[in-house]
Amino acid sequence: MNTWSHTTVLLDEAVDALITQPQAHYVDATFGRGGHARQILSRLGADGRLTAYDKDPEALTEAARIADARFAIRHQSFTALAEWPAGTLAGVLMDLGVSSPQIDNPARGFSFRADGPLDMRMDPTRGMSAAEWLSRADQRQIAEVIRDYGEERFALAIAKAIVARRQERGALASTAELASIVAGAVKTREPGQDPATRTFQAVRIFVNAELEELEQALKASVRVLQPGGRLVVISFHSLEDRMVKRFMARHARAPVDRRAPFAEPAPALLRVLARVRPSAEEIAANPRARSAIMRVAERTDVIPPEALSRLPPRGTRPVARETPATGARAWPAPRPLDSFGFMPGSAS
Ligand SMILES: C[S@@+](CC[C@H](N)C(=O)[O-])C[C@H]1O[C@@H](n2cnc3c(N)ncnc32)[C@H](O)[C@@H]1O
Repeated sequence: MNTWSHTTVLLDEAVDALITQPQAHYVDATFGRGGHARQILSRLGADGRLTAYDKDPEALTEAARIADARFAIRHQSFTALAEWPAGTLAGVLMDLGVSSPQIDNPARGFSFRADGPLDMRMDPTRGMSAAEWLSRADQRQIAEVIRDYGEERFALAIAKAIVARRQERGALASTAELASIVAGAVKTREPGQDPATRTFQAVRIFVNAELEELEQALKASVRVLQPGGRLVVISFHSLEDRMVKRFMARHARAPVDRRAPFAEPAPALLRVLARVRPSAEEIAANPRARSAIMRVAERTDVIPPEALSRLPPRGTRPVARETPATGARAWPAPRPLDSFGFMPGSAS
């Protein structure tokens, strides 16, 4: 029995921003322990639907406790958002990063505070663990990952120390071994921060392909949201937040057609609505909330050119209409619920 719990960050703020139509279909892309998911279900009507994703088998075990025919969970990366038909969802929530049980359980290998196997995979059933990667990667690759994903000044010194230790005594196997090598290579410590913080963050991001998957899921969400649908993303470090911020800004600006730079620009796909930080009370009650930043954007009614080519066959697809203001092609009013791949109440 797993005793670690997760305190949901920005619970009401995220769900308030996400739900605009209680009878529509929503996605919680990062189920975790289901804090947001349960709150979303409590706000949805009888015809509302929630499909959740998580890579972690333990999240699936928790999700199996939700006996609600409006809910389904999938053991997949949220990159699977790309499988939804265009314009079918009323909202997508992403609460990024790792859950507290993942960090706190030493057996998952995410923590430098408690010793455990050097794993760090959100889904330990597939892919390469941190130990496997660090046993094979060359010094240059290790240094690049620690520099780029950890923004660590001592990346090269840490990579050298890892490779030297590997040659002397064999591959690293535990989180304590990695933490101690990093502590020896980091010359100046940042106040209040363990010297291993940046390296552990970097290796975790790399092993789980976090930034690549986020980029893919953001792109997919713009295509699958219906007009007025909300994209709500909570991030916990600057690399993620920068990616989300730039993505939203790029899609909220009308792209200029390079072949016709003086033509009226095509209308934007997103409208940026908000940037929200946890309150002082929330941070006092849950210090892990301190670095959270939530960004909210709303889908406009413009069809992206790439979605036009993927529309279902004629006769089964909604007919695009002209919007008088811009002349752009736009989706018609939201369609009835789509039950694409929906498996009520099951944890498959
Ligand atoms: C911060 S927790 C979410 C907590 C959740 N909102 C709650 O209230 O309990 C992040 C979760 O997202 C999952 N996750 C992270 N990246 C993922 C991805 N690319 N695809 C699917 N799940 C992912 C992690 O396994 C973790 O369980």
